[in-house]
Amino acid sequence: MMWKNVAAAPADAILGLTEAFKNDPRPGKINLGVGIYKDASGATPVLDAVKAAEKILLEQETTKSYLPIAGTPDYGIAVQKLIFGAPCDRAATVHTPGGTGALRLAGELLKSFSSGTLWVSNPTWANHKNIFTASGLILQDYPYYNANTQRLDEDAFFASLETVLPGDSVLLHACCHNPTGVDLSSAQWDRVAALAKTNGWSALIDFAYQGFSESVDADRVGVEAFLASGTEFMVASSFSKNFGLYRERTGALTTIGTDAEAKATAMSHLKKTARVLYSNPPAHGGMIASTILQNAELSTIWIHELDAMRDRIASMRAALAEGLAERGVNMDCSFITKQKGMFSFSGLTKEQVDFLREEKAIYIVGSGRINVAGLTPDNMNAVCDAIAESLDK
Ligand code: LMR
Repeated sequence: MMWKNVAAAPADAILGLTEAFKNDPRPGKINLGVGIYKDASGATPVLDAVKAAEKILLEQETTKSYLPIAGTPDYGIAVQKLIFGAPCDRAATVHTPGGTGALRLAGELLKSFSSGTLWVSNPTWANHKNIFTASGLILQDYPYYNANTQRLDEDAFFASLETVLPGDSVLLHACCHNPTGVDLSSAQWDRVAALAKTNGWSALIDFAYQGFSESVDADRVGVEAFLASGTEFMVASSFSKNFGLYRERTGALTTIGTDAEAKATAMSHLKKTARVLYSNPPAHGGMIASTILQNAELSTIWIHELDAMRDRIASMRAALAEGLAERGVNMDCSFITKQKGMFSFSGLTKEQVDFLREEKAIYIVGSGRINVAGLTPDNMNAVCDAIAESLDK
């Protein structure tokens, strides 16, 4: 390859910001870009349940030999219990390197076994389009967010889904839609699942934030609607956020067929494709997650820790909305407390985002997405002051 004739690739919209942040020498800089949970002191700690599971693993682990291509059966069952509430005899699960690995694996399967067209929400997570374009899929947008109402653009959303052709696929966010924080209601999920079944398209559900909207159980609402419909779909799980396993690259892809027979066929293709992409998954994070999920005591500790993360984010949402209102900003801030998950889709323009970064050393994603999970009592005033000032620009 002749690098001197190759143009440099653009920095990643999210992780590229983290690099720029690290290189920023200004004291007091604040990173509200990448979706990473921080506690009130600004740290991203290892969860107690994770530390306890690691202790067990350190004592009991006997080999570093390869995992099976699909990961261990234990892990698959633990993942199914988590995403469905119980194992599912129509489902095949493989352990993947993070949620991104699951999405890429799904992209390869869709390229081979669907029409090759994937519909994604407008907007969606910045990396979705890159992943699926790399798999060779043709992407179509469906309307999702109404910037005026700061809610789901319901009529346009359903009208667009009505045009999805048989054999196409639709990417949906199970909860805590990234970047908008606007989720479907239970009735809307039922309607989407019924449309998929009637019109013969399949869903790929990105489940990266289970536990960050209402609870681990309540956040299954979309997956449950699809499961009940009896139609085929896939679920990409990430345990980066809910187990805090970011750098351990821990995820899963689950395909759900119309009957138990389809499961073996699906598993054969999942394994064939995974083998080509990454051979077999990294063990450590998956072993931590399955150790926790199979141990009642550790599961209880984990659920408490997850609840505490969700509650802290909710309190930061309230403080942000209040802080902006106190500064008299010319904006109805109630959407901040209504949005779900780690992010607030602020509506700030590119110029305002640039102002925050260049003048105030506050980093948020170019779309105006703020990582509320990165706000703390210590940085809240500076952030509110800076946003209020940016709105006057
Ligand atoms: C995010 O949206 O910030 C996270 O999902 C992290 C990432 O990989 O982009």
